[in-house]
This record gives sequence, structure tokens and C-alpha cells, in this order.
Amino acid sequence: MKDIFTAPFVEEMKDITANMYRLGWDERNGGNISYMLDPQTVGEYLDLSHVIRTIPTGFEAKPLIGKIFIVTGTGKYFRNVEKDPERNLGIIRIAEDGTTAELLWGYSDGGKFTSELPAHLMSHMARLSVDPQNRVVMHCHPTYTLAMNFVHPLEEKAFTHTLWEMCTECIVVFPDGVGVLPWMLCGNNTIGEATAEKMKEFRLVVWGMHGLYGAGRDMDEAFGLVETVEKAAQIYMLTCNRPRLNTIRDEQMQELAEAFGVQYRKDFLNL
Ligand code: 13P
Ligand code: ZN
Repeated sequence: MKDIFTAPFVEEMKDITANMYRLGWDERNGGNISYMLDPQTVGEYLDLSHVIRTIPTGFEAKPLIGKIFIVTGTGKYFRNVEKDPERNLGIIRIAEDGTTAELLWGYSDGGKFTSELPAHLMSHMARLSVDPQNRVVMHCHPTYTLAMNFVHPLEEKAFTHTLWEMCTECIVVFPDGVGVLPWMLCGNNTIGEATAEKMKEFRLVVWGMHGLYGAGRDMDEAFGLVETVEKAAQIYMLTCNRPRLNTIRDEQMQELAEAFGVQYRKDFLNL
């Protein structure tokens, strides 16, 4: 058996949480990540027949039965993952009943997975239904995206359009746009279901006045999406109270999307 502390997926979680913390996206215990792992690879590091304890999830995730995820712990600080991954992360498998998580490693202080597990696992199911290669769901509280939530209409077309206008690369990086949910109570199945519904259409979902979700085939894709939205939101916040002298016009965004061959939300442009 190989040493779990050297596993590439543990290293990736350490690296990504440290970066997200230093970018200011994850104050205190803000944010959470779930990453679906290949059972064969996990089996090189852990005895998959050894379940440490079982934890009810409170919802049904039948399509995920037998799937294994590494997930950040509830109440845990991204800042601390690097120095103590076994306490701040856990590896869970969805049991045969579809409603129980089997803990295979981690949460070593008796803790459990993020309170946002419904939004994560329901989003995994939604993304897998449209992209079987999806593996990562991440949630965070990026500063400028959040600031923009307070001064910009919380509406999908308008929000996406403004972000697309702020950086030339935006329409190429997230041509599918950004889904937007109003402020909702977090940490429950209702917000999980609403997020998953959006995830069928978008890889990015804003939780109004709370934060952002990103999904992708790997850590780079999910992180890159969040990073690009946050950069655009930063430029918006730095310029929104000054006279706008120049902008990227809708025809130019269309030109970009067509030159890069991406499937974009034509209905989000005003052509
Ligand atoms: P957890 O500590 O339960 O992951 O919650 C953090 C958070 O961002 C809630 O939305
Ligand atoms: Zn949050």
C-alpha cells in the first residue's frame, strides 16, 4: 500500500486550498471542494473494504452509489489543509443505499464533510448528466464577484454580459455563461437542488450575496473558471463608478467566440 499523504489527489487538494486561501476567496471556513476520484487509484493508497464510520448525507444520490470523493470538512479552514490534510479533508464513498457516506480516510478529529454536500453531490450528478468527464465542484467567496453582487443586477444575461465585456478572454473561457441564484439559505437540500438545476446549463453558478460555484473536468478547469470570473468582476468593480470610454462590443465578442470555435450563449449578446 502506498502512503496516502503522497497521493496526487491529496497533493492537489492541498495545493488548491492553499491557493484559494491566499487569493482571499476562502476566509475562515468559507468555501468547500469535492473531487471525484478513480476507485482503482484510491485502492493503491487505502483498503477500500475498511470503512472508518458511516455518516448520513440527508439526501438520495443513487447515480453516485460506489463513487468516491475527497471532500473538505465542515467548519475547516482552507488555510489549514496544507499542514493537516487528514483532519481537514475526508475521503468518502456513497454507500449502496445512496444516502450514506462511508468514510474511508480523514476527518480525523471526528468531523464530517462540508455542510454544502447536497449542493456538491447534486451538482456532480447534474454535470455528469451533461458531461461524463466532470470531476470537480468548488465553492468559494471571491471578493470582487461578491462585491459585484451588491451593485449589479442579479440576473443571468446581464451578469454574464457584464463579465464578458470586462476581459477579452471571458467569452472564450465561459461561453456557457454564469447561472445566478438569488440569496438563499445555504447548507441544505433546497439550495442544493437549485444549484444542480443551474449546473445542467452552466459550469458557473453565483449564489446571490454569498459566493460562487465552479465545476470542471479537473481542478484546473474549475479553478480557471472561478479565477476568470473573479478577474472580470475585479475590473468591473474598479471601473463601474467611472465614465466608460471604451468597451468590448457585442460584435467583437461574437467575433471572438467564432474565431475560437466555442459554443456560446448567443441569447446573452445583443446583436
Ligand atoms: P462548510 O464549512 O460547511 O464547508 O461551509 C462553508 C461555506 O462556505 C458555506 O457556504
Ligand atoms: Zn459559502
